[in-house]
Parts: sequence; structure tokens; C-alpha cells
Amino acid sequence: MKSKVIAAFFLSMMISSFASADRIGICAGCHGLDGNITDPLYPKIAGQQLNYMIAELKAYRSDARQTPDSGYMGLLKGYTDEEIRQISEYFAAQTPKPGIVEADEKVIALGKSIYEKGIPAKNVSACAECHGDKAEGRSKTPRLSGQNTSYFVKQMIWYKTGERTGKMMPDLVGDMTEEEIEAVGLYLESI
Ligand code: HEC
Ligand code: HEC
Repeated sequence: MKSKVIAAFFLSMMISSFASADRIGICAGCHGLDGNITDPLYPKIAGQQLNYMIAELKAYRSDARQTPDSGYMGLLKGYTDEEIRQISEYFAAQTPKPGIVEADEKVIALGKSIYEKGIPAKNVSACAECHGDKAEGRSKTPRLSGQNTSYFVKQMIWYKTGERTGKMMPDLVGDMTEEEIEAVGLYLESI
């Protein structure tokens, strides 16, 4: 009796890990097998915070996260909570890599300053307060370090226009100009 239960347990473990391996391959098509895709259309997800990733994948599944690009994530509809957790654990465990950024030193310095100190005159808070000194994120606050600049810029603009909703960010983006947003993006991609 006991051995039957154990055999059933191992069989179910094997099936679920095969199912997830298959699905990781699908994600890898756009995000890279190690989550460090450099094609700027797609976000890097290597080393992304586990709780943030699980929350976002469930938000795509329920259509709570809808952006002009969220259609790419329509495949999440058929995923179970357990699959979402396993796939997220795999990508969260990958090592994030910075991008190769070619930008003026002054632009990077502006981005770093906004990231660390905000823009007091415009009431823009320091990003580091929530996203961490090294932009590593924490729990449901995402890692931003290494992220592809054009993905980053698009999401910031969509928070501004209301095309991406969120509990915190829409108010925080405030009056940042596109140049300021891009400077922060370039700084973050470089670290
Ligand atoms: C056809 C390409 C494609 C496939 C396949 C794909 N993604 Fe995505 N993914 C995208 C795009 C594009 C976005 C950005 C969408 C948006 O604007 O919200 C995204 C967003 C995400 C995000 C949010 C990133 C962030 O920083 O907020 C996560 C997490 C993610 N994908 C994980 C996955 C996982 C896990 C799979 C496999 C189950 C997967 N993706 C499959 C293209 C894809
Ligand atoms: C009070 C805390 C807080 C501050 C300050 C803050 N953020 Fe965020 N940020 C969050 C949280 C929480 C999320 C995820 C939930 C959401 O979408 O609102 C997020 C999400 C994001 C995302 C989406 C990331 C992705 O992978 O799609 C970007 C980009 C971002 N923040 C950039 C910034 C920048 C740049 C600043 C500084 C100008 C900043 N944040 C300041 C809490 C904060």
C-alpha cells in the first residue's frame, strides 16, 4: 500500500516537472532560456522577484494586466497556479545580466541621480526607496536592474497614460518627461 502511494507520488512529480519543462521552453522563445533576452521588445525575467512574477502572471491570466503588448502573454490562460509557481521559480533562480549600453555619461548620471534621489521639484520619489539600492527589487516590487531600456520606457509611459494600471506606479511617474524616463532606463540597463 505504502509503496503504491510513493510510486504515485513520484509519477505525479515527474509529470508535473515535464509539463513545466515544456512550458519553460515556450517562455524561452521570447524571454531566453536564462531569462536574459536582449531583444528590447521583451522584458528580461532572469532573477526577477518570485512574488512579483507570480502576481504578474496571474494578472495576465485574469486580464488584470492589459497593455498594448499583453496579448503576447495570452498563452497564460491555460496555466494552473502550480505551473505558474514552478515556472516562476525557475526564472527567479536565473542570474540577471546587465545590458551593453551606449549612452552619454551625463545621461547615465542623470538617470542614476533620479533613481537614487527622485526629482524633488516634481514630487517624483526616489525609486531606490522601493526598488532597492541596486534595483534588485523586493517581494512584489520588481527588480529593474539590467532591464531592456525600451521595455522599461514603454511600461513607464503606459503607467502615465493609464494603459498599464498598478497600485503604486501610475501616481509615481507623475510629470517625468520622456527624456528623464529614458535616462533612468539606460542607467538601470547598465547595472
Ligand atoms: C510570444 C512572446 C512571449 C512568450 C511566448 C512569453 N512571453 Fe512573457 N512577455 C512577453 C511580452 C511582449 C511581455 C510584455 C507585455 C506587457 O506589456 O505587459 C511579457 C511579459 C512577461 C512578464 C512580466 C515582466 C515584468 O517585468 O513585469 C513575465 C513575468 C513574463 N512575461 C513571463 C513569461 C513566462 C513565464 C512565459 C512562459 C509561460 C512567457 N512569459 C511567455 C512576451 C512573451
Ligand atoms: C512606493 C514604492 C515605489 C516607488 C517609490 C517606485 N516604485 Fe516602481 N513599482 C513599485 C511596485 C509595488 C511595482 C509593481 C506593482 C505596480 O505595477 O504598481 C512597481 C513597478 C515598476 C515598474 C514595472 C516593472 C516591470 O518589470 O514591468 C517600473 C518600470 C517601475 N516600477 C519603475 C520605477 C521608477 C523608475 C521609479 C522612480 C522614479 C519607481 N518605480 C518608484 C513600487 C515603487
